Amino acid sequence: MSGDWNEGYFTDVGYTYGYYREINPVFQRFCLLLRGYAAPEGGTANHCEMGFGQGVSVNIHAAANPGHFVATDFNPSHAAHANKLAAAAGTDARLYDDSFEQLLNRTDLPQFDSISLHGIWTWVSLENHKNIAEFARCHLKPGGVFYNSYNCFPGWSPAYPLRQLFALHDRFASVPNGASERVDAALKFSEALLAANPNYSKAVPQLGEKLKSIMGQNRNYLAHEYLNREWNCMYFTDVVDALTHAKLDYVTTAVPLDAVDAVNIAAEGLDFLNTIDHPILREQARDYFVNQQFRKDLYVRGAVRLTPIEQRERLLNTRFALTQPAESVPLKVAGAAGEATLQEAVYKPLIAALAVKDYAPKTLPANGGCTRYAIPCHATSFGRPGRDGKYGTMPA
Ligand SMILES: C[S@@+](CC[C@H](N)C(=O)[O-])C[C@H]1O[C@@H](n2cnc3c(N)ncnc32)[C@H](O)[C@@H]1O
Repeated sequence: MSGDWNEGYFTDVGYTYGYYREINPVFQRFCLLLRGYAAPEGGTANHCEMGFGQGVSVNIHAAANPGHFVATDFNPSHAAHANKLAAAAGTDARLYDDSFEQLLNRTDLPQFDSISLHGIWTWVSLENHKNIAEFARCHLKPGGVFYNSYNCFPGWSPAYPLRQLFALHDRFASVPNGASERVDAALKFSEALLAANPNYSKAVPQLGEKLKSIMGQNRNYLAHEYLNREWNCMYFTDVVDALTHAKLDYVTTAVPLDAVDAVNIAAEGLDFLNTIDHPILREQARDYFVNQQFRKDLYVRGAVRLTPIEQRERLLNTRFALTQPAESVPLKVAGAAGEATLQEAVYKPLIAALAVKDYAPKTLPANGGCTRYAIPCHATSFGRPGRDGKYGTMPA
């Protein structure tokens, strides 16, 4: 199933059924708050998702959050599935099968508090990058949030030529079969090429391992990831430049653990990064230290810094809910610099406090916020490692 509506995007099979919390306006607000930035709040907010795939995320957000949701994905099978979910949930989500260009040309859209794209940017044309930026310029409120995720350099640089091989095999030597067979044929071709010992794989010895891990992945996912006509892997700074026209300021990532330098970058690297004043150059340089290959970025149209007191108040009033059984919460976290063990004495009581009263949402203060079930105040941040090298304390 395809046609000229698909702009070279792979549409022979539908996409996978994933949920992505980074698109959730509440989660986005929390990530901004962690870094001391304000984000829009309120029950009448409007949110937009561009390229929703099967629509799992947008439907969960529309069913579980206040406000109104508009979204599009130009694949009509995806839109039909997403609308079926919306009807079953009884929400007022408006889910279209418009292309990004068509969405931009609509005259019936509100101004949005957030516009989000997950797994889109790399796989669409430079023309669509302009459509997306123009959509944000026309439809994102001042103070609104823009979320974008994409494959990036330098992490992708050694394996970029592998993707090129898959795509070229599919273009010039494709088997006239289904998506899964086409993916398999492209993988086999690349495996055989590497087995013949080209100088390239001598220069990049980990390529064989990378190919092996790709071979174990879901074929529909791989078809969407690698068989598109477009594959625009970029540096962080290239994306910043592409969004400047929409007045978007880069603020932080949608990965809370990125705020904890100690699990991501060794002291030597941090010392170097701390010599860089410009936030964009620092963030780009940080990608070299963590060898970033996929970024999840949050921008704001006119970022407003909270005062430390405002930030503290808002953090204290944030409601937290444990979303998995207390006994299954791992006491380890993994960052780019390796794994860290959380201090049991701090985290066990925190997890136990979150689990009481049937896992009801809780705030930090004992007598404030939305509930009186307080969680211990000393257990809210990873902080710096203690003398034993473990994490889990908050600076007093
Ligand atoms: C890699 S999938 C990601 C889907 C979803 N965001 C997720 O992460 O599950 C990319 C999606 O973008 C849609 N898409 C690609 N180009 C588009 C365009 N020009 N206009 C609208 N949708 C597009 C595709 O149909 C596909 O569902």
